[in-house]
Amino acid sequence: MHELLERLHRDHKNLDRVLNLLSSQLDHFFAGRESNFDLKIELLEYLETYADLAHHPLEDLIYHAGMKRLGENTHLLERLLGQHQRLTAATRKFRMSLENILHDGVMSRAELETQGREFIALQRLHLNLEEAEAFPLLDKVLTEQDWKEVEANQPRHDDPVFEKPDQLRFSSLLHYLEKAEEEEEAAD
Ligand SMILES: [Fe+2]
Repeated sequence: MHELLERLHRDHKNLDRVLNLLSSQLDHFFAGRESNFDLKIELLEYLETYADLAHHPLEDLIYHAGMKRLGENTHLLERLLGQHQRLTAATRKFRMSLENILHDGVMSRAELETQGREFIALQRLHLNLEEAEAFPLLDKVLTEQDWKEVEANQPRHDDPVFEKPDQLRFSSLLHYLEKAEEEEEAAD
């Protein structure tokens, strides 16, 4: 698999981790147990800064290159491009809803729960579709020249959590991941 697809695959694994964490945090919250609001907001901010500003734009470039090679069979890639736009809007909306609850706004917990569960499901369906169908297809149809063009135009953003950790902005998330790693090591 081309190294850019491998990179996106690594991102997907990290995104999966972030979504699992968000999901378990929401479970705690809706069960009335203690949950960490800073952590939840940071998870959404991570999605807004890295997934929406670096990961999806790189995929978009690759999908556009793929559409040129696929003639009329562009349905899958068009669908994924549309999903990127909807995911960006959904992430923003859900982050604002969390902030609304945090500041004792008017939103009900039930409404937040529905939105949160739908949001996570939407993200997962999208990632699975890319992994199962789009990446293998693109790896087959894109040429060396296509990849060179994508590489020349790709967004240059480091991952602020998994690559170049921003301790100030993502302190709760980084702390949580560090703790989880220590626990995994201790369990080995
Ligand atoms: Fe994507």
